[in-house]
Amino acid sequence: MNCGQCQGIEELFSQRYVAKELSRYRAKGPDRTTRMLIEAINEEDVDGLTLLDIGGGVGSIQHELFEAGVQEVTSVEASTAYLNAARAEAQVRGLAEHVSYHHGNFVDLAADIAPADIVTLDRVICCYHDMEKLVVLSAARARKLYGLVYPRDTWWMKIGLAFENLSFRLRRSPFRTYSHATKSVETILSSNGLKRRSYRQTLAWQVVVYSR
Ligand SMILES: C[S@@+](CC[C@H](N)C(=O)[O-])C[C@H]1O[C@@H](n2cnc3c(N)ncnc32)[C@H](O)[C@@H]1O
Repeated sequence: MNCGQCQGIEELFSQRYVAKELSRYRAKGPDRTTRMLIEAINEEDVDGLTLLDIGGGVGSIQHELFEAGVQEVTSVEASTAYLNAARAEAQVRGLAEHVSYHHGNFVDLAADIAPADIVTLDRVICCYHDMEKLVVLSAARARKLYGLVYPRDTWWMKIGLAFENLSFRLRRSPFRTYSHATKSVETILSSNGLKRRSYRQTLAWQVVVYSR
């Protein structure tokens, strides 16, 4: 992977960082907004469906949706440490043989990734500069449902993310966070045939499921 942000992802989501997240997931289950996304997807019958999870971190969505009946998963992850953690957890749960793992930038790999019934990007588009490509290419692979968690388009989130970016700059990290306009994301999705079917929010995040 040769983009600056991809190098930033590899540095930020280090073995140490990811090991902590994996133990937190093992102890407490998925984070709040991930749980909200899983619940929203589970309002549909997911039995026998396939999942493409992009930037799935330790794999919470993959593991929880397996429990709900999803049959096969494709995981595309830019961070080596996250990919290894998700695979290790799937092995512990006896699920690894049902997951195909791809390491890299989804935008570069998309042409080789097959469509799936459900596509999820949980707190991913805020970690990638070219939202348009990421959303267009991932939406094109969603046969039924498309689930997104991303920052709310509010002044407090813009200020928060600007402070985060200042701290990355001071640490000389190439990693940046991005606040993408909700309107742009929604326009891309509706012009790709996806309609909003559920919307939840917290102070910081919006959790949205679209269907075709
Ligand atoms: C903030 S983490 C979120 C991880 C997990 N989804 C969660 O919510 O706990 C962002 C994730 O997106 C991944 N990511 C960002 N841009 C990506 C891209 N273009 N292709 C694949 N993965 C990407 C990162 O590697 C990382 O796993």
